[in-house]
Amino acid sequence: MTETVRIEINANSLEVTQEIAAQLAQLVSAGTIILLEGNLGSGKTTFMQAFGMALGISTTITSPTFTLIDEYTEGRLPLYHIDLYRLETSQVPSLHLEEYWRGDDIPLGVVAIEWASKLTKLPSSYLQIKLSYPVRSPLHDQLQDPLMDEEIENLPSDRLIEIVAEGTAHLEILKSLAVKKVIMQNLVTQSSITTSP
Ligand SMILES: Nc1ncnc2c1ncn2[C@@H]1O[C@H](COP(=O)(O)OP(=O)(O)O)[C@@H](O)[C@H]1O
Ligand SMILES: [Mg+2]
Repeated sequence: MTETVRIEINANSLEVTQEIAAQLAQLVSAGTIILLEGNLGSGKTTFMQAFGMALGISTTITSPTFTLIDEYTEGRLPLYHIDLYRLETSQVPSLHLEEYWRGDDIPLGVVAIEWASKLTKLPSSYLQIKLSYPVRSPLHDQLQDPLMDEEIENLPSDRLIEIVAEGTAHLEILKSLAVKKVIMQNLVTQSSITTSP
């Protein structure tokens, strides 16, 4: 039987995104895998900055666009922050990212991957976080991807955050997050648990 948990959060300000990320950081454990998706400027790195801070990392997390992989070991758990933006899909397998979730040679920690849609092989269990900005302003229609820095700054500050869990360990994390958010504020606009044979 497969169980899927999906929640949708209306993050109508930067602070809400940061709060969700901080809440999630309390729930993760060694082996948690976070796959981040969304256009440039949607908030993937911003999410990870708040997440890292809540994990106890005092170094400011920056975008690993050029370094590809940044490792932070000072928090409650090691954090491996990866950004596949600059890579072609065909180059991704040579990074051997599975070593991060196998934890054979590297201490098991939290793996967070920006532009995870470039992964050719998904891990068997993960949390997928999709961030998007609303498509409603005429300005948005004129925007081309990739956005320039000043266009990102001028975007509205609301984001839709959709989180889906795959695999038992990650399902439990997402269920706990959904409960926390419902209790805290009515930010979760949709939450569903479905089972299929
Ligand atoms: N609700 C929000 N959630 C996340 N980021 C937001 C929000 N509102 C405004 N922003 C801004 O949007 C930008 C997101 O940039 P960044 O996190 O680097 O995106 P990405 O890593 O997805 O390319 C930041 O400047 C951030 O301050
Ligand atoms: Mg980024």
